[in-house]
Amino acid sequence: MKILVTGGAGFIGGNYALTMVKRYPEEEYVVLDALTYAGNLETLESIMNEPNFKFIKGDIRDRAFIYDLFEKEKFDVVINFAAESHVDRSIEEPDIFVSTNVMGVQVLLDACRKYNVSRFHQVSTDEVYGDLPLDRPDLLFTEETPLHTSSPYSASKASADLLTLAYYRTFQLPVTISRCSNNYGPYHFPEKLIPLMISRALANESLPVYGEGANVRDWLYVTDHCNAIDLIVKKGKVGEVYNIGGHNEKTNLEVVKTILKELDKPESLIHFVKDRPGHDLRYAMDPTKIQNELGWEPEYTFDTGIKKTIEWYLNNKDWWEHIINGEYKDYYAKMYKERP
Ligand code: NAD
Ligand code: DAU
Repeated sequence: MKILVTGGAGFIGGNYALTMVKRYPEEEYVVLDALTYAGNLETLESIMNEPNFKFIKGDIRDRAFIYDLFEKEKFDVVINFAAESHVDRSIEEPDIFVSTNVMGVQVLLDACRKYNVSRFHQVSTDEVYGDLPLDRPDLLFTEETPLHTSSPYSASKASADLLTLAYYRTFQLPVTISRCSNNYGPYHFPEKLIPLMISRALANESLPVYGEGANVRDWLYVTDHCNAIDLIVKKGKVGEVYNIGGHNEKTNLEVVKTILKELDKPESLIHFVKDRPGHDLRYAMDPTKIQNELGWEPEYTFDTGIKKTIEWYLNNKDWWEHIINGEYKDYYAKMYKERP
């Protein structure tokens, strides 16, 4: 079986490739990635020379290139992780989100049709459901919750989900979709909450918490997400959507305080800043379907996962220090200058 992993030099796709290349030596994995600011070949270093692994640089929006690649490689399965993934960037610059997350997915869907790929899996997000109120802990997102997006990012992801389902219904393309809650773990780009707070706390820099830090996210350790996708690709039912989440709801303030405690840093580093426009209040997934139908269970709780993550950042400073010392400095200055 030959599997194309698009966006595999990013956070989740990278963890997917690292896990599956070693777990399944009999399967061939090809990572395709455009190496945007979020893609990093160092993430894939430990599998680069494995006989069942290959990296190709390229853009999912480049139709001629993608058709050529599919013709040559004859993929059985395509798993699409490639995306612009940061909500704050989508508020600054929506165009690239529509271009990559919608048009890019359409190119992949067309290629899968043209070259008879036996499964296209779209990696989606809980953000397509919009948000839940803070005062109704009984409410969770199910696969039947209507799509109701808030940011240009989530709107582009919901569009891709709808296109994917349309290709199933109209062309019988064998597709599956997974919608996962917030991931954390190794190789997470330090623009996102958890790695941003770890890297800044280690440097004794202020920690910018949006609003009052009361927004709630449902955290899942990244390899638990990867295992769920592997199950869906191998055993999931074509045409179906599966929610993934581990019932680990935390306010942002709780997350930041946990990090400070683990690193033995003072809470005085916390700095409340201007809120994100359109900021979703709460995400919370109901993963009953994937648990009952495919037997998926997460391995990590937030407590075990966050300890493992912090340990990774402490032991792998080379990976993230040169990111935050490069172009990222300009990004941080620009994004946070209006959040005094
Ligand atoms: P990421 O930003 O870390 O990685 C995205 C990768 O896609 C990068 O390596 C980038 O170079 C690549 N890429 C971007 N545009 C491309 C293009 N046009 N062609 C080829 N490659 C391109 O993102 P992530 O956090 O790993 O997220 C992966 C997927 O999972 C995304 O689709 C995201 O929407 C979804 N998701 C993320 C989370 C989360 O918490 N991070 C949760 C649920 C779902
Ligand atoms: O829910 C899944 C989604 O999770 C994925 O689809 C996205 O790709 C991923 O980026 C993530 O989106 P969020 O917006 O939830 O993640 P982020 O890490 O940007 O922010 C998490 C929470 O922390 C959110 O409520 C905003 C807040 N925050 C974030 C940053 C970067 C802060 O308070 N301060 C910050 O500096």
